[in-house]
Amino acid sequence: MPSSFTSKLPNLATSIFTEMSMMANQYQAINLSQGFPEFDTPAFLKDKINLAISEGKNQYSPSNGLPELLTQVAAMVHRQYQTDLSTEQKLDGLKNVTITSGATEALWVAIQTLVRPDDEVIIFDPAYDSYEPAIELAGGVCRHIALDAPSYAINWSLVEQTINEKTRAIIVNSPHNPTGSILSAADLSSLQALLEKYDLYLISDEVYEHMTFDGLRHESVLRYPDLFKRAFVVSSFGKTFHCTGWKMGYCAAPDALTVEFRKIHQYVTFCSFTPAQIAIAQMLKEHPEHITELSSFYQQKRDLLINALKDSRFNMLPSKGTYFLLLDYSAISALNDREFCQWLTKEVGVAAIPLSPLYPVDKRESYHQNNKVIRLCFAKNDDTLLKAAGILCQL
Ligand SMILES: Cc1ncc(COP(=O)(O)O)c(C=O)c1O
Repeated sequence: MPSSFTSKLPNLATSIFTEMSMMANQYQAINLSQGFPEFDTPAFLKDKINLAISEGKNQYSPSNGLPELLTQVAAMVHRQYQTDLSTEQKLDGLKNVTITSGATEALWVAIQTLVRPDDEVIIFDPAYDSYEPAIELAGGVCRHIALDAPSYAINWSLVEQTINEKTRAIIVNSPHNPTGSILSAADLSSLQALLEKYDLYLISDEVYEHMTFDGLRHESVLRYPDLFKRAFVVSSFGKTFHCTGWKMGYCAAPDALTVEFRKIHQYVTFCSFTPAQIAIAQMLKEHPEHITELSSFYQQKRDLLINALKDSRFNMLPSKGTYFLLLDYSAISALNDREFCQWLTKEVGVAAIPLSPLYPVDKRESYHQNNKVIRLCFAKNDDTLLKAAGILCQL
């Protein structure tokens, strides 16, 4: 490499999710760190993807997605949120939905579509780790606002104080990784007021859209036309159908934003894996109950884990959605959260995710002083959860 090479992301290290999963493998720990299901994708989906491959459906799909999948996404959005996305079929697909290679691609493309050099984007910490590098590579600047622990709610007056003439967009994530908090209808109304007052755009990361608990409703931006008209709404079939490795997602956006989004999407991936699109379209059509049952499926796992940990010295924080549960370990150890997770993996045999790496580098130290919290993923088989909980109860 020529010596003049300078990194475009000099401060970026290996993601904490990769780091903890590698450590879990190395020490053969029970891996409750990285957020992927331990159980398999439904047999129906596997059969349909195998069939599509064996029938030779192995070439490019239309760049914006197969028409049958786009139609099924619109139907699902109608069922879930009583919202009519445009079903107008144009040559380049449905006007408001684009199929992407995972939510990661959708987030990336939405950010490149919106963010110009020196634009500021507000994100909330702890934040999913793909937002900031994408904003930086677009030439933008992240403005970080910490969620209010322990409820991890958004302080909207702080958001208003942070907005200035350079602010371009706000990124929200609900249900929220890593905290399991969710946005309420009142939150969305505060958000809408600010977006309108300051004429801003919104990226709404809703990859856990079908996982909310205790009867709480997911307040999708898709339910609110005045929010949606300035938004990119991003979701992940990988999360919904237990097939994270397929990297399939979608982005819903109003017409004009979709046109711009697609200009970039076509040069990032052109299109997503055709056999997976065929299989997911059939799954959405023939098994809508998979989605309507997903919240109770994960709520049972959450409750199993909470119950199994009730005699431990961990303090469990509320998990209202996602497949994550936060544990406060301050009664057990004075280590910082990263050291605690390393110790937990190596010496105790359970891998978890520390929250501090999901804060900006300069805020981590102060975060450590006030919070001793780790994230467990409960998208695991019941046996695995019980085994891990049994070990954690001994601490
Ligand atoms: C909040 C959040 N956004 C986006 C993604 C990426 O989703 P995908 O695997 O579909 O790219 C994840 C995956 O963990 C996530 O937790």
